[in-house]
Amino acid sequence: PPATPQYRPAYHFTPAAHWMNDPNGMVYVNGTYHLFFQHYPEGMVWGPMHWGHATSRDLVSWQEQPIALFPDKLGMIFSGSAVLDVNNTAGFGKNALVAIFTYHNPDEEKKGTNKHQYQGIAYSLDEGKTWTKYPGNPVLPNPGIQDFRDPKVSWNPVAKQWVMTLATKDRITFYGSPNLKTWAKLSEFGEKLGSHGGVWECPDLFPLTLGGKTYWVLLVSINPGGPNGGSATQYFVGQFDGRKFTPTTTTQKWVDWGRDNYAGVTWANTGARKIFLGWMSNWDYANQVPTSPWRSAMTTPRDLALRQVGSEIYLTSQPVPEVAKLAQPARKLTSLTVKNELSLAEKLPSPGTQFQLRMSTKQLRDFQLVFGNAQGEELVVGFDKAKNEYYIDRSKVGDNSFSPKFAGRAPGPRLATSPAADLTLLFDAASVEVFADDGLTTLTDIFFPKQPLTTLSLRAPSGLTVETLSYAQLAASAK
Ligand code: FRU
Repeated sequence: PPATPQYRPAYHFTPAAHWMNDPNGMVYVNGTYHLFFQHYPEGMVWGPMHWGHATSRDLVSWQEQPIALFPDKLGMIFSGSAVLDVNNTAGFGKNALVAIFTYHNPDEEKKGTNKHQYQGIAYSLDEGKTWTKYPGNPVLPNPGIQDFRDPKVSWNPVAKQWVMTLATKDRITFYGSPNLKTWAKLSEFGEKLGSHGGVWECPDLFPLTLGGKTYWVLLVSINPGGPNGGSATQYFVGQFDGRKFTPTTTTQKWVDWGRDNYAGVTWANTGARKIFLGWMSNWDYANQVPTSPWRSAMTTPRDLALRQVGSEIYLTSQPVPEVAKLAQPARKLTSLTVKNELSLAEKLPSPGTQFQLRMSTKQLRDFQLVFGNAQGEELVVGFDKAKNEYYIDRSKVGDNSFSPKFAGRAPGPRLATSPAADLTLLFDAASVEVFADDGLTTLTDIFFPKQPLTTLSLRAPSGLTVETLSYAQLAASAK
């Protein structure tokens, strides 16, 4: 297919070429953020999985590195995590980077024993440049569970051991280890809780504080079964005592309500700061999206926090402040009163295809921000007051014929209860990320316009007063 440079994002990570899915092994070491990723370096669709590698010092400009992990006789290299072994618990060396990943063995799979996925480890003594697989692999054999994968490991100071959070078909199983090499089962969670529209994948478990109290957040991606179809990531808030996760959640919660934020997890070794990154696609159509010579981008990295609304505790996601450092001087309008439709094209010249838009109002009502062009394409980000939901509608933008599951409107409920509202939108060529109410409701969608979207109008059929509306170009970061 012809190359599509117009869809190449500037501050989101994409591999130079070929297929990518989940983020893996995210770990912060000596000022460098490492991002590994599910990668098939020989094709444009999912294939035998490797761990690709990229690094960044600021979370917005990424350098792709040589491939870190190749398939071997134990299988393909599926998703997993990496830790910095500060105390040399594994004996590979002080400050060794240790990757914990799933081996997927297609030959075993054909035998139908349900034992074709098991966990292996590899280590690096040069900050991720070169890797050695542990000769004792697998470190966690499969007891006969069809889906047995995506280990996320972190040091638990209470249990004084490593804890592995593993997706095991329809639940999470926790394992503990003193040395990353021998693992013992601790507990299970979730068989009867949360969403089960699809298989559980790519979990993460980490603490966050709210009002001086510590809570544990358990992320669980599911596919299919997302709130707007296909892949999505649910989460639970609760307590973890070093062995067992006890939820306090009573309602179903989603990290992101858009169609394109999957398999997201957080960076290891960032202290109290928890930075999340997801794969900006959806298994419903990931193999068909019209980009070339690469397929898929990651989301913007997001800082996670907790917020209480009524009696519920929610996870909030905000773009990392590093993104704002790319912002060129903002163009700003204040006290706009909109009746029906207001074209902002003259007031705010087009900022191009990489930009951040902010809007605030003291009295939230129905609105549609319409990003369009002379060809009549429209990408809409809006709020529906009767349904109390934000949404992205990509049904009128681009040639969506590559998949019947792509076009459509993805709503996400407004969880904030104040009449005042604020939104931050991030655009980067072929994606929009919406952070409403300081990240309480987030929506992420990709889209593929035939021509760049250069006009903006604001529709508000029942009237709307906008306190401020500003947008700033986000410069492509120095490569
Ligand atoms: C999630 C996932 C993981 C698996 C990987 C394989 O998107 O299905 O569960 O490890 O992709 O590429």
